[in-house]
Amino acid sequence: MTRRSWAEPWKIKMVEPIRMTTGEERERAIQEAGYNTFLLRSDDVYIDLLTDSGTSAMSDHQWAGLMVGDESYAGSRSFHNLCQAVEDVYGYPELVPTHQGRGAEHILSQILIKPGDAIPGNMYFTTTRFHQEHPGGTFVDVIVDEAHQPESDFPFKGNVDLVKLQAVIDEYGVDRIPYVSVETNVNMAGGQPMSLENLRATYDLCHRQGVLLMLDATRAVENAWFIKQREGGQMDRSVAEILYEICNLSDGATVSSKKDNLVNIGGFLALRDPELAERARSLLVAFEGLHTYGGMSGRDMEALARGIREMVATDDHVRARIGQVEYLGDMLFKAGVPIVRPVGGHGVFVDAAKMLDHLPQEHFPAQALTAAVYADCGVRAMERGIVSAGRDPENGEHHVPKLELMRLAIPRRVYTQAHMDVVAESIGATYERRHEIKGLRFTYEPKSLRFFQARFEPIY
Ligand code: F0G
Repeated sequence: MTRRSWAEPWKIKMVEPIRMTTGEERERAIQEAGYNTFLLRSDDVYIDLLTDSGTSAMSDHQWAGLMVGDESYAGSRSFHNLCQAVEDVYGYPELVPTHQGRGAEHILSQILIKPGDAIPGNMYFTTTRFHQEHPGGTFVDVIVDEAHQPESDFPFKGNVDLVKLQAVIDEYGVDRIPYVSVETNVNMAGGQPMSLENLRATYDLCHRQGVLLMLDATRAVENAWFIKQREGGQMDRSVAEILYEICNLSDGATVSSKKDNLVNIGGFLALRDPELAERARSLLVAFEGLHTYGGMSGRDMEALARGIREMVATDDHVRARIGQVEYLGDMLFKAGVPIVRPVGGHGVFVDAAKMLDHLPQEHFPAQALTAAVYADCGVRAMERGIVSAGRDPENGEHHVPKLELMRLAIPRRVYTQAHMDVVAESIGATYERRHEIKGLRFTYEPKSLRFFQARFEPIY
C-alpha cells in the first residue's frame, strides 16, 4: 500500500502552553535583546525555531526511562545500555560520553590536533571550528562548490570535493593532517546531505594515505533519509541500515545527541580504536566526568539510549520529521521567499543576502532579518551568516561566508502543521515589506563564538 502523507507516527499526550504577544511587546523585547534572538526570553517567543538542538519532545518510553535511570557514580547500568545502543545503531565499539556535542569535539581535538595542523572539512560548524583552532589547528573548507550556491538544486550539497581534499593533503602532508572532519547533513550549508558514494570515496582517499576520517554524525539519520530518497539503489534499504553503513565508513564520530537522538541534553565521542579511546577517557575524567557518565546523569543516559533506538525503529519517524520541514519550505518557496534549495533536513534556510539585497553584508542582513521576523509575529529564528562566521584569529578580520542565511530550525515532534502555516504567513508578510528593514551594527562583540551573546543597534 502506498501512503500519500507524511503524517506523524505518534499522538500528543501532554501539552505546554505558549504565549502570544502583542507587536509592542515584541518591539520592546527585541530591542532589549540587542536585536539578537539568542538574548530573548523564551516567554516572549511564540514559535521557537531558534534551534532543533535539545528542543525535541521525548516519547513516553523515554520519559519512563528517566525513572529507571541508574545514578551510580561508576559503572551505571544506564551507561551500559547507552554503549549497547550506540554499538547496535551506529556500530562503534568504544563510547566516550560527554555533556553535549562540543564536549566531544573538545576531547577529540585535544587528543589529536597540534599547533600547525590542518583539518579539512565539508564546511565549518561554529563550535567544531572553535575546538580545531583552539589547540592551534586550521580548518580548511573542502566542500563542493554547489554548497555555497543557495539556488543550486544539486541533491548532495554536503559532498566533499575530492580534488580540494587531495590538494590540502598534498600541501600540508599527512603528518600535519590529524584527521578529516566530515559532517553528515551539513548544518551551515542548510542541512544538506552527502551521498554514500562520496563518503566512500572520501574514506578510501583518506585510508590509502593513512589519514583518519572522523564524522560529525549529529544529523546522520536525516542524511540517511536523503540517501534513501535520492541515491540510486538505496530506496529499498532502511534508514537504520544506511546509517550503519555511513558510520562504517569512518574511524569515529562526535555526536550532539540534542538533535537526531531525541533528547534535551547529551552527546558522545565514539571510536573504533581502543588506544585512542583510552587517551580520550583520560582527558574526559578531567574535563567532563568519570568515563562511565561523562557529563550526563544516569537518567539522561537512559533516555538517550532509548532515543537512539527510537530514531531508527521505523523510517516513519524521520519521514514525518523531514516531511514537516519540506512542508514549510514549499510554502515559503511558493510565496516567493528566496530559500536554500533543496530544502534541508533540520530546517528551512532563507537567503537573507538575496531577500535584503539593499543591505551590504557588513550590515548583517541575516541578523536584521531574524530580528524583523521575530517582531512580526514572535517566531524566533537564528542568523547563520557573517555574524556566526566570526573573525579570523590571525588577522582579526571578519570571516566572510558566501552564505548569509536565516535559519528556521524545526524541533522534532514539537509543532503542528498549523504552526508551520503561521510561520509561513509571518515570513511572507515580512518579505512584502523587506525594503523597510534596516541594517545593524555591533554595540557589543564577544571575542569568540560571538553570535551567542553579541548585541546590535539599527543603522538609520
Ligand atoms: N555539530 C553540529 C553539526 C551541530 O549542529 C552542533 C550544534 C554541534 C556539533 C555542537 O553540539 O550544541 O550539543 O554542543 N548545533 C546547535 C545548532 C547549537 O543550533 O545548530 P552541542
